[in-house]
Amino acid sequence: MPPSIPLLDLSARFKKYQPDIQRALNDIFSNGKFILGPYLEAFENAMAQRLEVPYAFGCASGTDALVLALRAIGVKPGDEVIVPAFTFVATAEAVVRAGAEPRFVDVDPKYFVIDANHLPTVLSPRTRAIIAVHLFGHCAPMGPIMDYARDHRLHVIEDGAQALPGAWNNQPVGSIGDVACFSFYPSKHLPAAGDGGMVVTRIALIAEALKRLRNHGRGAGFHHEIGMNSRLDEIQAAVLLPQLHDVDHDRLRRQELAQRYSARLKYLPLTTPTSAHDVVHSYMQYTLVYKHRDALQAFLADHGIASAVYYSRPVPAEPAFSAWQGYFSCAEALSQQVLSIPIHAELSNSDQDQIIETIEKFFVTKLKDISP
Ligand SMILES: Cc1ncc(COP(=O)(O)O)c(C=O)c1O
Repeated sequence: MPPSIPLLDLSARFKKYQPDIQRALNDIFSNGKFILGPYLEAFENAMAQRLEVPYAFGCASGTDALVLALRAIGVKPGDEVIVPAFTFVATAEAVVRAGAEPRFVDVDPKYFVIDANHLPTVLSPRTRAIIAVHLFGHCAPMGPIMDYARDHRLHVIEDGAQALPGAWNNQPVGSIGDVACFSFYPSKHLPAAGDGGMVVTRIALIAEALKRLRNHGRGAGFHHEIGMNSRLDEIQAAVLLPQLHDVDHDRLRRQELAQRYSARLKYLPLTTPTSAHDVVHSYMQYTLVYKHRDALQAFLADHGIASAVYYSRPVPAEPAFSAWQGYFSCAEALSQQVLSIPIHAELSNSDQDQIIETIEKFFVTKLKDISP
């Protein structure tokens, strides 16, 4: 039986946007322009304005956005790119797809993002870039990362796949590093009706490279380099555009839900998420840390409440990354203890109350069965 409270509710979400999307689809099918047309242009302009950057390029996925970004800054085979050990595999996968080597560093236990103190431990003459992942909606420590990158002449790529409406030091996510990547995978802040991504930058030279690379390396009538076929199509742009107007409203609702969770769960023997003073947390996930995580997850499932483990192992512990394995104590501990519970703009207070009451019930009825 599907859970009565799911992790996200896309059909409820899309009801609101259906008339706008339907109108746009009718238009697209009657004008017959499916690739690189007016809806993509309008969406790219709206994203550039929202993120306070001059250049934005829609592409096929968040993973492709990372590959495009790496290639556009000139990463090539033999180069090394620093990535956090605790992230979605796509961050490191893109580095390998660009022909480079991921160099993993541990994260910090409080905010789950890269610990900038570890950067010097992996720096080498081959290091070209750092990918700063804004995990679960919390920004990476961009101050120390940008300082370190400047001192060592490295590029910074923001992986904003999970943090589109967030900010660091009053700057929107995506406007801080040299280039930034977003995903429109359906579970993200801005869900497409399928896959989609975007790469944005403040830097004209990088923008020129991105524009060529996503379109088979084509520019001014020539194919200058081996590029990719990675464009966000008109249909997805038309699905995304009307939602962008509500992205900050939705983030406020997520923040409100996070506050409600934290106010009531803070008395329990688990750790609730928190944010650094200079970060606007966009709560892509609301992630608890609890040592009997599996028992709590099973209890929630028995009561019809969905939850998820993001991520059950550090990326370098995945078989595909065996060439780069290492031991990362925080990433390891988090992967044993994290549990993400439902948080999205469509979640009602009454469903959230039911989730909170079920977690409280777990501690009353089950804790005595679990060894401390
Ligand atoms: C942190 C992070 N980076 C990159 C990606 C890749 O995005 P996509 O699934 O659109 O390829 C994701 C998607 O889940 C992600 O969470």
